[in-house]
Amino acid sequence: MTVHAPVAAKGRTLIVGSTGFIGRFVAEASLASGRPTFLLVRPGPASPSKALTIASLEDRGAIVISGSIGDDDRDSLEKVFKEYEIEVVISAVGGGCILDQLILVDAIKGAGTVKRFLPSEFGHDIDRAHPVEPGLTMYGQKRQVRRAIEAAGIPYTYICCNSIAAWPYHDNTHPADVLPPLDCFHIYGDGSVRGSDIGKFTIKCIDDGRTMNKSVHFQPQSNLLNMNELASLWENKIGRTLPRVTITEDHLLAAAKEMIIPESIVASLTHDIFIKGCQVNYSLDRDADTEVTSLYPDASFRSIDECFDDFLARVTGAPAVVVDKPNGDATMVKPNAETKAFAMFTASCA
Ligand SMILES: NC(=O)c1ccc[n+]([C@@H]2O[C@H](COP(=O)([O-])OP(=O)(O)OC[C@H]3O[C@@H](n4cnc5c(N)ncnc54)[C@H](OP(=O)(O)O)[C@@H]3O)[C@@H](O)[C@H]2O)c1
Repeated sequence: MTVHAPVAAKGRTLIVGSTGFIGRFVAEASLASGRPTFLLVRPGPASPSKALTIASLEDRGAIVISGSIGDDDRDSLEKVFKEYEIEVVISAVGGGCILDQLILVDAIKGAGTVKRFLPSEFGHDIDRAHPVEPGLTMYGQKRQVRRAIEAAGIPYTYICCNSIAAWPYHDNTHPADVLPPLDCFHIYGDGSVRGSDIGKFTIKCIDDGRTMNKSVHFQPQSNLLNMNELASLWENKIGRTLPRVTITEDHLLAAAKEMIIPESIVASLTHDIFIKGCQVNYSLDRDADTEVTSLYPDASFRSIDECFDDFLARVTGAPAVVVDKPNGDATMVKPNAETKAFAMFTASCA
């Protein structure tokens, strides 16, 4: 692990997983907010897209620290936190390495410099949702990380941003990587979803005393749509109607049961969202709950409509709105014809 010279500014924020889907948006939002932003990047050869992401973040002022959160990295991590006087750690590691964060928790505790830790969540409230396997195992791991943070007495915030505001494919890990359908819609059960700007609001939360040791739920009512509404919105954008094919509960359960990772995890979560309604079937009635639109009533959320304009621009090649990159978004749903979900925007619209 390479350790560079310490940086003097306050609010030093280290992001683990900045080359990933969610982490890149969080890193961009951190840089846009003017925070001193450090990226823990795994050593070794980088793919062209990973190298581009790192270069682009460095151009905007990010400081890259070579390192990892694996088994052998605990002491090096603690050293990095101390030497850089890191105050905030945001982890966005992927579903396959959630438990590696136990090392991170231990190093944060040892360093004693970190005033807020945001573990890799960026989805449902995993203490409330109970998807079928294999989603449940990943939730079990995320719960284990939550309990370790709480036991270590590290101040934390859990970002429960629900789904990504794009077409919710049940067999694709990163829905905002792909365009909404142009041939036919797959409607789960009888279809609904909702979301907001994940990177931007994640960064807003980290200095906010009201989010200390809380789960921050993203539920902007303006982005609550069901799948049929989502489909109609896209049809309006592209100027034609598409066939709607129902994907049944049995189909989603069968896809989950195949245990093909990560596709089966996505199928199990799609089932939990669109059939069981895990994003909307509870009230925010616990002391640890807080909701992002109540915290920041004056902040604007990008709408699904705007998000779809971006997708349309990618389909037609014409600039529909002023954005310089695709947005990652999120969604929520309940189990019947009115089932709706929240679509959350991951980052770029600071
Ligand atoms: N709400 C939603 O719809 C939604 C959608 C997707 C993901 N998520 C959640 O968001 C979180 C991030 O997932 P993702 O899909 O964005 O992840 P991802 O694209 O797979 O990226 C993972 C990142 O973590 C880094 N990483 C992995 N292991 C590491 C280690 N040992 N040390 C340091 N860095 C490490 C990777 O670095 P390399 O570049 O070196 O591989 C990469 O930058 C997860 O909790 C996931 O469940 C939510």
